[in-house]
Amino acid sequence: MLKKCLFPVAGYGTRFLPATKAMPKEMLPLVNKPLVQYGVEEAIEAGLSEIGFVTGRGKRAIEDHFDTNFELEHQISGTGKEKYLDSVRRVIDKASFSYTRQGEMRGLGDAILQGQRLVGDEAFAVVLADDLCLNDGLGVLGQMVELYKQFRCSIVAVEEVPREQIHKFGVIAGNEIKPGLWQVTDMVEKPPAEEAPSNMAIIGRYILTPDIFDLIRETPPGKNGEVQITDALLAQAQRGCVLAYNFKGRRFDCGSVDGFIEATNYVYENVYLPEQAELENK
Ligand code: UTP
Repeated sequence: MLKKCLFPVAGYGTRFLPATKAMPKEMLPLVNKPLVQYGVEEAIEAGLSEIGFVTGRGKRAIEDHFDTNFELEHQISGTGKEKYLDSVRRVIDKASFSYTRQGEMRGLGDAILQGQRLVGDEAFAVVLADDLCLNDGLGVLGQMVELYKQFRCSIVAVEEVPREQIHKFGVIAGNEIKPGLWQVTDMVEKPPAEEAPSNMAIIGRYILTPDIFDLIRETPPGKNGEVQITDALLAQAQRGCVLAYNFKGRRFDCGSVDGFIEATNYVYENVYLPEQAELENK
């Protein structure tokens, strides 16, 4: 069964400079919790407890976050402040963390290929932490794991986006096999609106079967010399089966400043305040 989840975090986060000059964008806090922790919590909820990060230079803070900080823990041990560490302690207890480096920024496809060292020869999930996905019920990865158990093939999460934004995404075309689930027949990375095969955009949640690694190796670099995961997925769709799933829940594009602020306001009201009320009663 699925156990492993890759987090490609080698990007520079240039849209958040200067904040991301010395700090990974994945460590930017959404209220009191770094962005990447939301993604890791979603993976753990989906039963994926072996977390692998594909990192780059300047990402040490992510390793330190998912590790014990003895000095701090000693300092606040037995005080009323200890409860503020509960959420990250739970994550550290429930999951294992491993790391590998993407030597050069050669695109998301290449970052996933570097992750082969961590996932080996089994199916795995991929989370792009800057897409924050929230749902009242089961999280998006949990929904996708349920589908994987049924179909045993690669699955990408998609959502409808307005035509004028479609050029920012990978876009699919497919045959709807049941409401909200398509068998992919075509996939294009960042098409101009008039060439987009649909308005269904791929967002940062994937389940991939391990044959994707050879397909990535065979994929020539596309725009900007980057190896696109979309191209390898199209090859996989043409040889076998790739599904696109219109998930239940809400996505925030935390890789952009506007999306990050929208997510911050939403999380403050709907996640942080209720959690604090619960903590006060402890
Ligand atoms: P983006 O291009 O959206 O993120 O990559 P970025 O480069 O971090 O941010 P900007 O555009 O400069 O502001 C999407 C995801 O893929 C990872 C990034 O870390 C991000 O999570 N990625 C991308 C890699 O790990 N390696 C790459 O070579 C490219």
